[in-house]
Amino acid sequence: MQAPETATTESTATPETPEGTAPFPTVAVVGVGTMGAGIAVAVARSGRRVIGIEADGASAAKALARIEEATAHAVARERLTAEERTAVLARITVGEQLSAAAEADLVIEEIPEQLELKRELFAELDRICPPETVLATGTTSLSVTRIAAATGRPEKVLGLHFFNPVHAMKLVEVVRSVLTSPQVAEQAAEFARELGKEPVAAGDRAGFVVNGLLFAYLNQAAAMFESRYATREDIDAAMRLGCGLPMGPLALLDLIGLDTARTVLEAMYEQSRDRLHAPAPILGQLVSAGLLGRKTGRGFYSYEAPGSSRVVAEPSTGAAARVAGRPVHAVGVCGSGTMATGIAEVFAKAGHPVTLVARSQEKADRAKAQLAKSLDRSVAKGRLTAEQRDTTLGLVTASGSLADLNQADLVLEAVAEDLAVKRELFATLDKIAKPGAVLATTTSSLPVISCATATSRPQDVIGMHFFNPAPAMKLVEVVSTVLTAPEVTSTVLELCGGIRKHPVECGDRAGFIVNALLFPYLNDAVRMLEEHYATVDDIDTAMKLGCGYPMGPFELLDVVGLDVSLTIERVLHQEFREPGLAAAPLLEHLVAAGCLGRKTGRGFRDHARR
Ligand SMILES: NC(=O)c1ccc[n+]([C@@H]2O[C@H](COP(=O)([O-])OP(=O)(O)OC[C@H]3O[C@@H](n4cnc5c(N)ncnc54)[C@H](O)[C@@H]3O)[C@@H](O)[C@H]2O)c1
Repeated sequence: MQAPETATTESTATPETPEGTAPFPTVAVVGVGTMGAGIAVAVARSGRRVIGIEADGASAAKALARIEEATAHAVARERLTAEERTAVLARITVGEQLSAAAEADLVIEEIPEQLELKRELFAELDRICPPETVLATGTTSLSVTRIAAATGRPEKVLGLHFFNPVHAMKLVEVVRSVLTSPQVAEQAAEFARELGKEPVAAGDRAGFVVNGLLFAYLNQAAAMFESRYATREDIDAAMRLGCGLPMGPLALLDLIGLDTARTVLEAMYEQSRDRLHAPAPILGQLVSAGLLGRKTGRGFYSYEAPGSSRVVAEPSTGAAARVAGRPVHAVGVCGSGTMATGIAEVFAKAGHPVTLVARSQEKADRAKAQLAKSLDRSVAKGRLTAEQRDTTLGLVTASGSLADLNQADLVLEAVAEDLAVKRELFATLDKIAKPGAVLATTTSSLPVISCATATSRPQDVIGMHFFNPAPAMKLVEVVSTVLTAPEVTSTVLELCGGIRKHPVECGDRAGFIVNALLFPYLNDAVRMLEEHYATVDDIDTAMKLGCGYPMGPFELLDVVGLDVSLTIERVLHQEFREPGLAAAPLLEHLVAAGCLGRKTGRGFRDHARR
């Protein structure tokens, strides 16, 4: 590929400008690397002319080759027709003269993430471009305001934060500094919509909406790994299976690049002074060692080759040689609520005889009827045959007496989330259960050790944290206390395989893996709202489109219940005493006002009116 001063794939580029008042008919993209190339194609697809500008001739040629390759790939994947590709390429030129930006209505900067480099470029663009030209920066973590201050037109400067890969990611954060004119921001949002993107409005602070919420969570996951609270595989599996996230946090950090993550976190910390944003030391260590993630072939994981997504197994992080577990056949479940019936269903479906014990025979019978209904639904959906339903139901005995648990190899309690109630139950189970029986609690926020010490056999007590609905959710957090016998941990891990659940192992501290990573993120979202930084809808949209999350934080809070969320946040704050973990006052206020989410018809959204 030769490197002409202005390279174009067609000798006569025909700039077509869209009809009417479509904003920014001609767009310059300065820096045609990963992001710039993607943006150039997206803009050209909207019918606009694109003036690509690179640092030198060789880079310009490379950039054009990248665009040709990406669009050819799009044709192969049937995202673009061959004719569309020809038209798109005809609208794009890539050269090395910054002066070409003078012809553009909008300039989008996508050069490396260095403040001085960007400021110099903006000062230069300010001299070159007519006063009405809008200048946008693609920065991820730098201050848009400081970049704008390098120009004499800060009202025409804003951030346009696209996501990688540009063709697939629908989100664009439109970042206004205090000086950006609202009309310019609106024009930019309209421009993003015309590219088929969904713009969300954000103010100028490190990380904007998506990274501001995402990176604090990624950082906590790195710190959790560093403290050896759980393995990298278990942390990642817990967040994928427990929250339905497309990737685990450590795999995502490897994909983003640990150097980039560290830069973003440094910028966030500089503004917030929140210790939860201070990059986890492990990030610095890995970066210093040149282990930047996938791009260098190693980060939290090791990959087949630099740039590869294929992880190679490392024996060192696997489970150490385990002792064998105890055999488990008969299972007892205490409780009559959603979790107890769901868990009883899981065990019975896997062929275990289950004794379901509630506070009275009547309650136990009702719980069994609920279980039967759930099985009926599975039959209706074709997931279970009528025979399987009958066999499963036949394995469940409802009882009002704890004494009936004397033959169980495993007793699991899912009664009220109240320590006094649970301790009393464990003390009773201690008297009833046969020697060697494993006693498990499903608590999500109480210390497992407090249940264990209510018995004379704390070595047999363990946490099995199922997720709701238990029959559908694959994850079980297996929580060993300092007194749990290794054999008991093995028993539960082996058992999880048999009931087709994915176990992850962790220690007995507040929030275990999932809640300790999830709730601080939800709390950060509430704080972002409280500070009027972004709206409920914008934050939810940003996290769904920017991170591929199944639900936005406010949707999730309304489903989980604001009271339940507040309790978990208080427990986390109480355990770790991090100021950043203190529950957001807005959450406290909503709970005090009885706005608990879907269950009361109102939480962050008004569900009654929908
Ligand atoms: N990669 C991502 O996932 C991602 C996502 C969102 C935003 N961003 C941001 O987008 C911006 C660009 O990142 P990238 O990943 O595309 O980087 P990149 O390294 O792939 O591309 C940068 C390009 O800019 C060119 N360049 C450097 N100095 C230049 C100059 N003075 N004039 C013209 N061109 C110049 C380089 O030759 C290179 O091609 C950064 O601010 C980054 O933080 C990146």
